[in-house]
Amino acid sequence: KTEPLSPLKKMYQDATEFYQHILLTTKTGENALKYAHDRELDEDLLEHFKIGYAPDNDGILLTFLKQKGYEDDLLRRSGLFVESKEGKLYDRFRDRLMFPLSDEVGRTIAFSGRRISNNSEIAKYMNSPETEIFTKSKLLFHLSEAKKAARSEGHLILYEGYMDVIAAYKAGIKSGVASMGTSLTDEQVYILKRITPNVIINYDGDPPGIHAAERACGMFQKANGFNLGIVVLPENLDPDEYVKKYGAQKYQGQVKAALTPIDFLLNRLALKFNLHNDREKLSFIDEAVQLIAPLNDPVAEDLYLGKIAKQTSVSIESLKVSVLRARRKLN
Ligand code: GTP
Ligand code: MN
Ligand code: MN
Ligand code: MN
Ligand code: MN
Repeated sequence: KTEPLSPLKKMYQDATEFYQHILLTTKTGENALKYAHDRELDEDLLEHFKIGYAPDNDGILLTFLKQKGYEDDLLRRSGLFVESKEGKLYDRFRDRLMFPLSDEVGRTIAFSGRRISNNSEIAKYMNSPETEIFTKSKLLFHLSEAKKAARSEGHLILYEGYMDVIAAYKAGIKSGVASMGTSLTDEQVYILKRITPNVIINYDGDPPGIHAAERACGMFQKANGFNLGIVVLPENLDPDEYVKKYGAQKYQGQVKAALTPIDFLLNRLALKFNLHNDREKLSFIDEAVQLIAPLNDPVAEDLYLGKIAKQTSVSIESLKVSVLRARRKLN
């Protein structure tokens, strides 16, 4: 049933295995392997995610692929090389830990390489350019595996980073995917929709991650039909750092305690106002009511209004009147 690999995908498969070989079995790969171990990537994880190492050498991959018989034209179109003014090809990825990015059936179609030095003048991650087999806006890291796990776990979890997906995997949650750092796209939301309505967003717990989660919430709500959960990790931690600090079990607890989008957005909103000041309190209620008004679930409405009532010492009855008023304006 699986179609034969296109020549370009075959090349990516060879490149993946080549980088894996260098990381796992060569002296050239020792330093990178140490980096991987320092980040708690054990042999099973390295194997499962097909992680490799592109050495600090501008022609080793080129030589290898030429020996394998790949034509110049295909090498040029692959995105694996950069071209000099004179048209000479050089390996694009150098001295980077290589994360293969794969299509929906798990075949490598691009790479993201992480620098292993702590020289912050070099970009932390470097991605393949788009090619005939790779469109950034449609890629979700680890999707081919997460899709299968989604059936047993009952949900898919969306992360910011590759290392977060891997840390979750290590912690027993195999349904993790990540967009490519760039913010979530509508195409990715659409892809997720075909797999499961149950999506949990677990971005980094730092301000950029929380803002990205707010934005993602809006996109999933606009796409309709999702049953969303949002995990906000403490202390600005990202999932990888959280698992490292608190362990797998605590992390699983965080996922189980995912907030509904309304709870998440209400929490965010409450932080923007000083609820000891009546003027600010009224503005808070006004905006909170806007979040509740689109709901057509009386039980959920009661639940959230109960919380807002408690926070503001305003009666549920008056809040309900405000919600009805806001709802009439919506229709
Ligand atoms: P680690 O430091 O390896 O743990 O990475 P991280 O995943 O925690 O990185 P961060 O939270 O800073 O960024 C999340 C995601 O954004 C990464 O997984 C990358 O996909 C992407 N990203 C981060 N830095 C860069 C960069 O310098 N260039 C590009 N193209 N993408 C980046
Ligand atoms: Mn596996
Ligand atoms: Mn981040
Ligand atoms: Mn991060
Ligand atoms: Mn990280």
